[in-house]
Amino acid sequence: MSTAATPVRQLDPHTVAELREAAAKLLAEFGTSATSPELLGRVQRLARDFGDDLRHHFRPVDTADGLFVLRGLDVDDEGIGPTPGSWATAGDSGAIHDLVLLLLSTVMGNPIAWEGQQNGRFVHNIVPSPGHETEQTGASSKVLLSPHTEDAFHPGRAHLLILGCMRNHDGIATTAASIRKTRLTDADVDLLTTAVLPILPDDAYKAAQGYTDQAPPAVPALFATEDGITLRYDPAYTPLDRADAEYRAAYGRLSDELARVSVAVSLRPGEVLVVDNDLVVHGRVPFQARYDGTDRWLKRASVRVAGRRTRPPAEAGEHGYGQAALEAHAS
Ligand SMILES: [Fe+2]
Repeated sequence: MSTAATPVRQLDPHTVAELREAAAKLLAEFGTSATSPELLGRVQRLARDFGDDLRHHFRPVDTADGLFVLRGLDVDDEGIGPTPGSWATAGDSGAIHDLVLLLLSTVMGNPIAWEGQQNGRFVHNIVPSPGHETEQTGASSKVLLSPHTEDAFHPGRAHLLILGCMRNHDGIATTAASIRKTRLTDADVDLLTTAVLPILPDDAYKAAQGYTDQAPPAVPALFATEDGITLRYDPAYTPLDRADAEYRAAYGRLSDELARVSVAVSLRPGEVLVVDNDLVVHGRVPFQARYDGTDRWLKRASVRVAGRRTRPPAEAGEHGYGQAALEAHAS
């Protein structure tokens, strides 16, 4: 894995102040970052008033890396209190940072939430949780969180994944691999752009478990767009044993290429990683959780961007395993 330089966008002090002031205004008005239609409406109105400099910082991902890090916001390590022991007990911990993330997500697109995940909150807390060490979800720690597309099982998944760092004393790296940096043969691309296997919902979607009404749809791992290839990839939830040897070999070469181009991004408090979920798969290295209130703590927001042509049109007909993405703003 390489530690090649990650594109960084340094926020200017004026932009930081604009975001902070708007977030403080929201918190004073609502007293919580738990979203209501009123709060989401207010976020949208505040975001509309942001200046051009701010908008320029939050322009779409514009390099083959498929991601960038925003720098310039800060987090008061004492002020945020201890790292919550799980998302379920996080409540309003670091609420001001939830609101900053919601605001910048709204500038970049339309934030989404899932009824079946973290109580339908629009900003998730990613913290290691006792008993979940070896899962393939954000609550894990001991195992490598294998590279994946966020919410790959669903046609309503985010176009952008936004990770805001609250605390990361051990410098635990998020991993990211861009399909635009891989080298694959035309034959492999042909095979992998064919819909062969489904991607099943992950463990974090409790409500989706046992969903058996309809057959899982087969989906392509790759999609060729005018601007290049995009991907939809989650090997931990793809039943590869159902494919023939030729397909499995091509999928294996895709995995090898993603591993070859993978970069490690070790976020510092205040930094915000923006990942294009159609270009980049992300994961996390294994680590030893502390469980003493000083663990790594990230905030996560998911954003849809209207009008993108990064996905096969056939996706629109998928059932999504009975899950529905809640959009912050009517679109
Ligand atoms: Fe993820």
